[in-house]
Amino acid sequence: MGKERKKGGGKAYQKAEEKIMGFEYINCRLSCDGIRIEEIAERIKTPFYLYSKNEIERKFLLYKEAFEKLSPLICYAAKVNSNIAIFRLLASLGAGCDVASGGELFLALSAGIDQDKIVFNGNGKRGDEIERAVLSDILIICDSPDELFLVDQKSTQKQKKTRVLFRVNPDISASTHPYIATGLAESKFGMKPSVIKELWAIGRNLKNVELVGLSSHIGSQITEIEPFCENARKLASLASELKGAEYLDIGGGLGISYSKEKAPSPKDLADSLLPILFDKGFKLILEPGRSIVGSAGCLITKVSYLKESHKTFIVVDCGMNDLIRPALYKSFHEILPVSQNKEEEIIADVVGPLCEDGDFLGRERKICRPKAGDLLSIMNAGAYGFSMSSNYNARLRPAEVMVIDKDFHIIREQETEEDLICHQRIPDILR
Ligand code: LLP
Repeated sequence: MGKERKKGGGKAYQKAEEKIMGFEYINCRLSCDGIRIEEIAERIKTPFYLYSKNEIERKFLLYKEAFEKLSPLICYAAKVNSNIAIFRLLASLGAGCDVASGGELFLALSAGIDQDKIVFNGNGKRGDEIERAVLSDILIICDSPDELFLVDQKSTQKQKKTRVLFRVNPDISASTHPYIATGLAESKFGMKPSVIKELWAIGRNLKNVELVGLSSHIGSQITEIEPFCENARKLASLASELKGAEYLDIGGGLGISYSKEKAPSPKDLADSLLPILFDKGFKLILEPGRSIVGSAGCLITKVSYLKESHKTFIVVDCGMNDLIRPALYKSFHEILPVSQNKEEEIIADVVGPLCEDGDFLGRERKICRPKAGDLLSIMNAGAYGFSMSSNYNARLRPAEVMVIDKDFHIIREQETEEDLICHQRIPDILR
């Protein structure tokens, strides 16, 4: 009580009695749901991902409240962060799951997500993945005519009737990184409306599939509302021409604020979609990911060296294998000291220990001069952080930790060297 709190970004102050949400400074020490991160780092080896249960919950409930009038099924996008503790938490709040591989389907089912709240996305589902989905009565989002026929064939073999949505390529341009704009005409995802109409007529005659609606996802990290509205209008209009179409799945994609960009809230999105979708009679499905878990996670790392070269480098113990977004998309992640100090500010590149110059976490950052052993927090790393990590340079993937009700819990152990070797074999001929 009476402590001075400052939000992670260093902007807003909060009153002590408010429920502590996410990452904020308390007396110059960065904390997660009220627990000092330094305290966690005494017990967990860096680097590690740290998640705030309160923040995940808050972000999910923002969706639920904002969309109340449309009562959608909110299928959290598994690829964003596929830790099953997060699946479980979201399922307990009523979420379903959008999966995009047999592995994600396995994880969602293992976490206890209701099979009738799972949708199966993706443009290259293998036969065995389709078979598993068919056996588990999962709603499949078909991305091509051939996939529809394969779903029908597998369903016939297994004596099942599988519910199917068609993924539409809506030809919508939303400003985001070109790798993650998935609704453009040239994108590999979905089918043209003309193909959808023809295929719908054919699919209605197939015995073991039931066509129940349309789906589309226009991209990720989108911070304007209009493309979502355009998508909803196009889907609703196409669906109204298709007999039996009862579901509209409008995908995910709502962006978050990584630095100074202003991101719309789920309420802004819901308010704009309501006039388009209300009273149309469709059952709505949403597939948000980043906007639920992005701000709820950070990557905690330790400074190994401070090096003066032609530039100043802060070398930390995490790298592009732990968080690839800066290297892959030149994404910006705020980097904050876990313990604020009063040292002079320097401009430095924050780099990892891997053997590539693309191995950076932040370039030309203004930061109070840290020393070896200091902890830094790479913010907004809850989405597409761990889930895109790798063992590059034979580095061990980090632990994941979640703060739940004033205590912290390991939700994934750090890998061991044994993990690096356990699936490898030296054939006898080489011994
Ligand atoms: N639904 C579908 C079909 C998707 O492909 C995606 C993400 C989502 C939902 C969730 O979108 P969100 O709400 O998270 O924007 N690795 C990139 C992002 C790739 C997005 C892939 N699709 C990144 O780190 O920015």
